[in-house]
Amino acid sequence: MRLVIMGLPGAGKGTQAALLSEKFGIPHISTGAMFRAAKGAGGPLARKIAQHIDQGELVPDGLALAVVRARLEQEDCRDGFLLDGFPRTVSQARMFEQLLDEMGIKLDAAIDIVISADEAVRRIVERKTCPRCGATYPGGTEVCSVCQVPLAKREDDDEPTARKRLLIYEEQTWPLVEFYRERGLLLKVHGEGPIDQVFHRVLAQIRGLQADEVLG
Ligand code: AP5
Ligand code: MG
Repeated sequence: MRLVIMGLPGAGKGTQAALLSEKFGIPHISTGAMFRAAKGAGGPLARKIAQHIDQGELVPDGLALAVVRARLEQEDCRDGFLLDGFPRTVSQARMFEQLLDEMGIKLDAAIDIVISADEAVRRIVERKTCPRCGATYPGGTEVCSVCQVPLAKREDDDEPTARKRLLIYEEQTWPLVEFYRERGLLLKVHGEGPIDQVFHRVLAQIRGLQADEVLG
């Protein structure tokens, strides 16, 4: 299965992608996580990436595509993948469409997780992440249950930067909803409520997709 997960910052893309990756045995590819890792590695590219992500701004489209192309060419993506946070602009979506054509593969669906802007800001401001493995936790948790190290805040998770990210989403990423609707690939999921309930809604949409394929 080849999926894209979209939604406002804080919508739960990473949370749902991790569950889907485990359920379907496909790699979870988060461009945000890849850029944060690249930033941590130091050097000129890291500084360029940090300039964008720490301010809540998008990195250039060409760089995002290059990172995704290199990742999709790896062996573990042969039978499917789950892209979290890419594409993020219409230009990225067009370049991605071309890349899939070149690779001779098709996207199965673009899942849009929908929450309100107020809920998004609340979740982002409360979120903690593990500085070692990158796992994400809701507010109230202090230690990573896997690595046993104290959790930290992401550099872009203060309220002003979160609001800027929401504005950038509205201007640059929101048009992708229409882009994928026009191609018959859009699956919309209500993203508020307990995490397992949202996951069941996502699975129900994917089952609908699989039933359509079987029925032709
Ligand atoms: P990225 O890392 O993708 O950040 P984002 O899109 O802003 O989304 P988040 O990771 O903040 O939220 P999420 O939807 O994953 O929610 P999560 O599951 O964590 O990108 C970061 C930056 O990288 C960008 O700003 C940009 O600079 C750059 N970048 C990345 N991709 C790019 C691209 N393609 N092009 C250009 N630049 C790019 O959940 C949020 C919180 O809520 C967590 O604490 C979680 O535990 C909690 N939560 C989840 N679900 C629920 C629920 N149902 N109820 C209550 N709490 C919940
Ligand atoms: Mg995320």
